[in-house]
Amino acid sequence: MYNYENQEYLQHLTGKSALWYQDVLEALLSVQPKEVLELGCGDGGFSRLMAEQKIRVLALDHSKTFLEYARRRTKSRLVQYEQANLDSAVGLHIAGRRFDAVVSVDVIEHLRRKERLLKDVAGVLEENGYLVLQVPNLYCNMISQNYVHSPINLLRKFRRGVRGAWRQFRHKPPEDICRVEYGLDYRVADHDAVWLSSPFWYLDFFRRHNWELVSCTTWSFDTKKVWLKRILRLAGHLPLLRWLGGRMIIIARYRGKQPRPRKKRAEH
Ligand SMILES: C[S@@+](CC[C@H](N)C(=O)[O-])C[C@H]1O[C@@H](n2cnc3c(N)ncnc32)[C@H](O)[C@@H]1O
Repeated sequence: MYNYENQEYLQHLTGKSALWYQDVLEALLSVQPKEVLELGCGDGGFSRLMAEQKIRVLALDHSKTFLEYARRRTKSRLVQYEQANLDSAVGLHIAGRRFDAVVSVDVIEHLRRKERLLKDVAGVLEENGYLVLQVPNLYCNMISQNYVHSPINLLRKFRRGVRGAWRQFRHKPPEDICRVEYGLDYRVADHDAVWLSSPFWYLDFFRRHNWELVSCTTWSFDTKKVWLKRILRLAGHLPLLRWLGGRMIIIARYRGKQPRPRKKRAEH
């Protein structure tokens, strides 16, 4: 298990600015939530941005160190922090409430049981509530420094990235991958802290569990540099570049439990 109590990681989190969260904040505001459950709030950077937009937030994380920092830094009464292990069987029952939206920024890939957690999300949403999810795309982690431990690994990642980009390209432009026509596609990354999945894994999950996919983009980049963000946003209009992709931002609406098919009564 990775240790989320260390100061170095905290420093990485506290270095993020509002610019870092720009795309996912825009996605969340597009569904106009009033009460949000945040999964994996880290140092509370995104929680505070939501509070500035007058959104009431319950923010969960497992790290005592991050939560302590988040509580110290947060002045707004709209944000409440709670410790919770999102991988545990208790799941989201800690919330004990319902929300208009659930948001999670770069967290799901850290969990071992993401499928169970995503199923639990439906249970804490109001009717027609939204999930806004930011996660890395398996295909686009070609050369990220965290994931490369050996030259052979680098080669595998590169091959996976090229194949994945080709698959996205053949299928649909990334900003428009809203339907899955075939197959579950899921790979486990060989890094000690994260498990990466392709867009197709998420899309297949939402389809199987009766979610409506509102949007899915694979062109989003978190950066601390304004000039880089501007260039990336401009570059995102070029179709040939766009299918290479960056982080995914998925907006999904829960349609409620699927009615079970009625059993026919046995005729006497
Ligand atoms: C990459 S950080 C993202 C934090 C924050 N969302 C942000 O964007 O800065 C991943 C977060 O997931 C949290 N986390 C990892 N495993 C967890 C678990 N099992 N339960 C709850 N939180 C977890 C870590 O403590 C950390 O805050």
